Amino acid sequence: MERVEVKLGENSYTIFITNGEISKAGRFLRQYMRSPKVMIITDSTVNRLAGEKVKKSFLDEGLDVFVEEIPPGEKSKRLSVMESLFTAALEKRLDRDSVIVALGGGVVGDIAGFTAACYMRGIDYFQIPTTLLAQVDSSVGGKVAVNLPHAKNIIGAFHQPKSVFIDISVLKSLPEREFRAGLSEVIKYGIIWDWEFFEFLEKELDKIFFDFDEEKIIKAVKRSCEIKAHIVSKDEKEKGIRAILNFGHTIGHAVEAAGGYSRFRHGEAVAVGQYFEAKLAVFLGLVREDIVERIKAILIKAGLPIDFNGIDPEEVIRNIYYDKKIKREIPRFVLPKDYGMVDVFEIDHKTLEKFFDVVDRGKKI
Ligand SMILES: NC(=O)c1ccc[n+]([C@@H]2O[C@H](COP(=O)([O-])OP(=O)(O)OC[C@H]3O[C@@H](n4cnc5c(N)ncnc54)[C@H](O)[C@@H]3O)[C@@H](O)[C@H]2O)c1
Ligand SMILES: [Zn+2]
Repeated sequence: MERVEVKLGENSYTIFITNGEISKAGRFLRQYMRSPKVMIITDSTVNRLAGEKVKKSFLDEGLDVFVEEIPPGEKSKRLSVMESLFTAALEKRLDRDSVIVALGGGVVGDIAGFTAACYMRGIDYFQIPTTLLAQVDSSVGGKVAVNLPHAKNIIGAFHQPKSVFIDISVLKSLPEREFRAGLSEVIKYGIIWDWEFFEFLEKELDKIFFDFDEEKIIKAVKRSCEIKAHIVSKDEKEKGIRAILNFGHTIGHAVEAAGGYSRFRHGEAVAVGQYFEAKLAVFLGLVREDIVERIKAILIKAGLPIDFNGIDPEEVIRNIYYDKKIKREIPRFVLPKDYGMVDVFEIDHKTLEKFFDVVDRGKKI
């Protein structure tokens, strides 16, 4: 069992990283509970795979637990689904001391966390993330949200979980494409913070992906959580350094939106974004060119896309201007400036157009 601490004063919490211990989740999480009532929110796929085990682990602790299931997929991350969760919570008499458990990927984590943030003005919740993306990224840091039809994560809150319980063995049933999408965020941590970790991934990616080497997966998940925890503890509400977690995301979100949120998985769009933002850094003379080659190579090795897949660069530029990070209408990019080091840069429209023009004509940058 590995532990990572997220240090946030009175909102601090522990991330437990285990291998094959999901049926002990209740035993670990019991210590953080003030009342016996537990509402597990999960999607139907994860419920089938792990719902019973997790429910039993709370029952075994003598707790009063029930499960609310939502359909899998991004479409569930909306207000009407939240309303049905509030109604279920109220009917089952959840009170201010009760807890919600988010059992699933980022979709479940985001909606369950936001439900916990709003119900009775905020109750406690735990994260039990079951996708690689959720284990290394979305379950940590307290950002919770739902979507409007044309705007992702536009209604949300910061609400930290009381604890995060990770079991890497659940990743065995994860579809290959989802696993690859999670790797995109893992690779990101190496680029923004820890080049040694990046080199570990360059070397061990095949063992992680093809061989399901448990030791190496634990290392990758733990290091990712450590880096995210460290950055979040310095800047919980994204007033400064937390923005660096958005490397690959300015172009990534623009590509994801242009694909109608269905062509690319989030991690795939972020892979495209990481590659093009690294290219942009070279274009601006911020960093040596070989960094792009290394980033390109590792993304390809992870089976991730590195091109727009037919999406018009003009549309990508347009979407960049809808980014939540934008200030005074000048888009902000997190760009590499050295190995394992990034910074935030404002890029004006002319420069952007010039860059995309070069990209579009396939010129060497
Ligand atoms: N809050 C944050 O900080 C943050 C960060 C990154 C992403 N996100 C959000 O996360 C969401 C994406 O999360 P995701 O990629 O985990 O997608 P997801 O939750 O949709 O899960 C992907 C699919 O995998 C299935 N699944 C989950 N666990 C499984 C398992 N162990 N075995 C087999 N199938 C399994 C799910 O049912 C689903 O069909 C997006 O909505 C994104 O906005 C939030
Ligand atoms: Zn992301």
